[in-house]
Amino acid sequence: MKSADFVVARDDLQRCKTIETQLPDPAALPEEALLVKVTRFAFTANNVTYAVLGDTLKYWTLFPAPDGFGNVPVWGFGEVIASKHPGIAMGETLFGYFPMATHLVIEAADISKRGLRDGAAHRQGVSPVYNSYARVTSNPEFQGRAGDYRALLQPLFMLSFMVDDYLAENEMFGAKSVLLSSASSKTAFGLAHLLHARGNVKVIGLTSASNVAFVQSLGCYDEVVTYDKVASLPANVPVAYVDMAGNSALRETLHRHFGEQMKYSGRVGLTHHTAAVNEPELPGAKPSWFFAPDHIRKRAKEWGPGGVDQRFGAAWSGFSPRLGTWLKVTEGRGPDAVKKVYLDTLNGHVPPDGGQILSLWE
Ligand SMILES: NC(=O)c1ccc[n+]([C@@H]2O[C@H](COP(=O)([O-])OP(=O)(O)OC[C@H]3O[C@@H](n4cnc5c(N)ncnc54)[C@H](OP(=O)(O)O)[C@@H]3O)[C@@H](O)[C@H]2O)c1
Repeated sequence: MKSADFVVARDDLQRCKTIETQLPDPAALPEEALLVKVTRFAFTANNVTYAVLGDTLKYWTLFPAPDGFGNVPVWGFGEVIASKHPGIAMGETLFGYFPMATHLVIEAADISKRGLRDGAAHRQGVSPVYNSYARVTSNPEFQGRAGDYRALLQPLFMLSFMVDDYLAENEMFGAKSVLLSSASSKTAFGLAHLLHARGNVKVIGLTSASNVAFVQSLGCYDEVVTYDKVASLPANVPVAYVDMAGNSALRETLHRHFGEQMKYSGRVGLTHHTAAVNEPELPGAKPSWFFAPDHIRKRAKEWGPGGVDQRFGAAWSGFSPRLGTWLKVTEGRGPDAVKKVYLDTLNGHVPPDGGQILSLWE
C-alpha cells in the first residue's frame, strides 16, 4: 500500500515535491498501531515557521522524510482506517498534528475518552502537545466549517490566549499600548481580539501597506500603522511589543524609537523570514521569546485540572463566531493544489483573509 507525502528540501524551502512511500500492510500493523488516513489540514505562515525552525526545534524529526528533505507538520484531521488497538475503532476521527501526507501510522498510547498520544520513539523529543490527538468523532465543534476553523486557528489562538493572559497577569508591564507586528496574521488578530475586549490598553497593528484595509476591517485594532510609518507613533507612551514578524530591522527601529518606554518585547513568530543572526543590544526591555508551553504548564498548575481547557474554551466561544466574516476558507485537493498553497504561503502571496484547507487526496 502506498502513501503520498509532500516533502521540502531542508536547505532550500523553495524546492518541494510529492513522493510515494510504502505503507505497512494494515493486516501486518504492529500491536496497538493505527493506520490513519489524513483527510484534511490547514496551512498558514505558522507551518512555514515550523519548516524554518525544523532543525532548531526538532520539527523535522516528527514525520520522517528522505535524506535532505523534511515533511512540514500541519494541524488537521485523520480517520482511522485500520486499528490494532482494542480501544480505538476503525472510522474514528482524530484531530492533531499530521504530516503533509495521505497517511500516518500512529503507535497509540495513553488512550482516554478524550484523546491519545503517538508513542513512536522518534516523536518523543518535542513538547507533548505535538504528539497528542483529540478523539473528535461526532463532536460538532470539529465538523464542517467549525472543524476548518479549529484546524486553521486553534493552535494559533492558544498562543494568542496565553500571551493575552501573560500580559494581563503582568499588568501589561505598565504599557498603555500593545504593538503587534504582522497584525494581519491569524495569531496576531486573535491576540488583538482578546486585548481589545479587555478595554484597558490601546491595540496597535503594524502591517504591510497591502494588508492595511484587512486589518482595519477587523475592528479589534484601535490603530493600524504601516511598517514604514512606525516612527510616527508618539515615543513618550509606554508600549509592549508582541512580534509575529520576527523582522530584526523593524524590532531595532521600534526599540530605538521608544527607548526606555519599550516595557516588554516578546518574540512569537517569524513571518518575514528576516531574522538577523546576531541581534544588537537594544534600548528598552530585552527582547525574549515567549514560550507558550511554559506559560501553559504554569497556568495548568495554578488553575487545576481542566482549568486551561475551560478558560480557553470560553475565549474560543467569543472568538470563533467572528471567523465567518473575517476569513474566506478555500479548499485545495491533490498534490498540485498543496504545492501551490505551500509556495504561495512561503513567499507571502496568500491574502490575509484566506484560510487554506488542503488534502493530498484528489
Ligand atoms: N511561538 C509560538 O508558539 C507560535 C504560535 C502560533 C503562531 N506563531 C507564529 O506567528 C506567526 C504568524 O502565524 P499565522 O499562521 O498566524 O500567520 P498567517 O495568518 O498565515 O499570517 C499571514 C501574514 O503574515 C505575513 N507574512 C506571511 N508570509 C510572509 C512572507 N513570506 N513575507 C512577508 N510577510 C509574510 C503577512 O502579514 P503582514 O503584512 O501583516 O506582516 C501575512 O498577511 C508565525 O511565524 C507563527 O509561527 C508562533
